[in-house]
Amino acid sequence: MDRIRIVGGRPLKGRIPISGAKNAALPLMTAALLTDQPLTLTNLPHLRDIQTLCQLLAQHGVDIQFDGTGNSAFSTQARRIVLTAKDITNTTAPYDLVRKMRASVLVLGPLLARCGEARVSLPGGCAIGTRPVDLHIGALEQLGAHIAIDGGYIVASAPGGLTGDRVVFPKVSVGATENLLMAASLAKGETVLVNAAREPEVVDLANCLVALGVEIAGIGTDTLTIQGRQSLRATEHEIVPDRIETGTYAMAAGITDGDLELVGARSDLLESVFKTLRRAGLEVADTAQGVRVRRINGFHGTDVMTEPFPGFPTDLQAQMMAVMTRASGAAMITETIFENRFMHVPELMRMGADITIHGASALVRGVPTLTGAPVMATDLRASVSLVLAGLAAEGETLLNRVYHLDRGYERVEEKLAACGAEIERLRD
Ligand code: UD1
Repeated sequence: MDRIRIVGGRPLKGRIPISGAKNAALPLMTAALLTDQPLTLTNLPHLRDIQTLCQLLAQHGVDIQFDGTGNSAFSTQARRIVLTAKDITNTTAPYDLVRKMRASVLVLGPLLARCGEARVSLPGGCAIGTRPVDLHIGALEQLGAHIAIDGGYIVASAPGGLTGDRVVFPKVSVGATENLLMAASLAKGETVLVNAAREPEVVDLANCLVALGVEIAGIGTDTLTIQGRQSLRATEHEIVPDRIETGTYAMAAGITDGDLELVGARSDLLESVFKTLRRAGLEVADTAQGVRVRRINGFHGTDVMTEPFPGFPTDLQAQMMAVMTRASGAAMITETIFENRFMHVPELMRMGADITIHGASALVRGVPTLTGAPVMATDLRASVSLVLAGLAAEGETLLNRVYHLDRGYERVEEKLAACGAEIERLRD
């Protein structure tokens, strides 16, 4: 298995291209199941999770073409994908693929709406918590689906099609909002989703559905009203830039006392994060091509609580914690979205961090130095938090289980090395 070797202590300086958002690309790709017409997506990131979803969609019968040889000065890989679900040949999403990536459950809504049936493996738990899918199931039942759990699978049917209804989510869920947006797009009549997620990736999906011919009111708010259509047309859609990748590299500038321009980044997607980083002592400014982040004075302990958008994202909590290990003073970091999202804490402590966990909060007391160590993590964002710590640590850090990073960060070691980091991938 590949490992990443980092020798810390170098300030990062230069430009980093921001890729298309993984968490927008995945639901957008599943939206191709809603129509027999081609859906073209541009600004596609090159990630393991995208490959996994391509495998899943291909076995449902979707034709997938990569088009072009790259449309960015930073990359020679094709960024344009054309997905055509002319005929859906199979409505089962098997365990082997779903267990690799929870977002596979996003095929449930579109398959059910288009074909009147779907069999999707239950994703099961994952490192950051139990992560049930009860909200997806309950809401689809409200649109008239019959759903049973059988042999580890969600077995759903709606032979006469789905019918719009008013769905009040008891809790904000990004995935459930996305599944329901897609299902409602082919349901009869009007669906109202109340307490819907407002994440930019949900907005991106809603905008693409509108381009496919669906009428949606309230995009960007917590109440979405969808008028279903009998069939959808072809469209081309550009995937929104990855705000989590942006935030991660902004924090890399902070922890290394660097100066980075994040090319293609959109600061309007990260207002709460940039507000926090400014309070900690960073300068964050829009440029003609993206966002520039650099440290201007000290670096102070700054409290953070994760919340649904527009609050501070849970997907940047681990990275923020890594950065706070080197701040002056203390920071209280509270995780409210997932119940078990502090797995990076023991690894950061092995690098010399001073962290105490109290329930859902971690008290991080800044230390003058971190020291490199062999480390590993069991999820994507925890892994990248260890990369950040390694960039600031004295000596060598060896990150194991790099496949987690490859699920969600495109060419992380290349992007960082180009800005002066001493980082390399050791292939086995
Ligand atoms: C998405 C993101 C993930 C991010 C998360 C929260 C993708 C592919 N993944 O995950 O990176 O960390 O949003 O911003 O976009 N819940 C239930 N029942 C359900 C569904 C969710 O109780 O049926 C709970 C979850 O366990 C969690 C909370 O709701 O505690 C939020 O989860 P949700 O927003 O659904 O996360 P995902 O869509 O899985």
